[in-house]
Amino acid sequence: NTPLRLGLAGLGTVGVGVVKILQRHGAMLEARCGRPVRISAVSARSRARDRGVDLSAYAWEDDPVALARREDVDVLVEMIGGEDGPAKAAAVAALSAGKHVVTANKAMLARHGQELAELAEAAGAALRFEAAVAGGIPVVKALTEGLAANRVERVMGVMNGTCNYILTQMERTGADYAEVLAEAQRLGYAEADPAFDVGGVDAAHKLALLAAAAFGTRVDFEGVAIEGIERISLADIRAARDMGYRIKLLGVARMTEDGLEQRMTPCLVPAASALGQLDGVTNAVVLEGDFVGQTVFEGPGAGEGPTASAIMADVMDIAAGVRRPVFGAPAARLTAAPRAMDATP
Ligand code: HSE
Repeated sequence: NTPLRLGLAGLGTVGVGVVKILQRHGAMLEARCGRPVRISAVSARSRARDRGVDLSAYAWEDDPVALARREDVDVLVEMIGGEDGPAKAAAVAALSAGKHVVTANKAMLARHGQELAELAEAAGAALRFEAAVAGGIPVVKALTEGLAANRVERVMGVMNGTCNYILTQMERTGADYAEVLAEAQRLGYAEADPAFDVGGVDAAHKLALLAAAAFGTRVDFEGVAIEGIERISLADIRAARDMGYRIKLLGVARMTEDGLEQRMTPCLVPAASALGQLDGVTNAVVLEGDFVGQTVFEGPGAGEGPTASAIMADVMDIAAGVRRPVFGAPAARLTAAPRAMDATP
């Protein structure tokens, strides 16, 4: 059986998780996909850094674009991050050569999702992004496959593990914001620039991607009304608690008569509700469809294991030959929805 050969671009928290899954579960993955999945080559900024995993069996490339173009790479696994720069250059190089791309990069897709989806579909290549939204929870698959027969009415959720971790720790320990943020960075939850987390931008990237898949519209990140958690104080948290509420960074996307409404803002949620009970790095995504009703998906939204788990699920689909349009409907048919006035940022 022909192996599916991977090129891993980026060996931070998520990249190391992917190496560990392949090293531990190689035989199991082969049994499930019907063919072996192997790493051919890797690329990262520092070759010398000790990452706690053995990389000696893989070729090394300094340049992720060269990695994407290697003859022995069928799938580029992009874990570099960043909207543009080497991540996008490598993704474009891979897709242009008809190679598949699996990415955790919500910032890149929020800005360039349409262009990359069109490129992928024209080349007959897969572009998969389960790991970009809600870490380990398979919400993209749920929307584009499991709930595909529904008209989606609303998508909402808590989609940034770092913010939920910070808010939870502030409630629990009374520790201040900066202290808890440093801890979230140490645990590998935060983005390279944590301002994206606490400013609501990271979660807004994810909401915009889910909205595209939910409503069959082009990704409209610019249309998300965003407010982060930077100004939430311990006093706010205590006042909410005294009234039976908790503060969560909540995203909501819905199609109204006036157009698409997308917001990512701190909200008071009843402490006893499903969203009110989320602690730590947990994310929850609520998907509502006309036939299925309300579904709730909950799990770890960031970190090495959960994000690598989502990446590898996409890789395994590609290995098994599963193909579907990037956002659930052919990219050329996605249209720009008018923005609902009251959600315009
Ligand atoms: N920084 C992100 C978070 C990582 O905290 O949720 C997962 O996208």
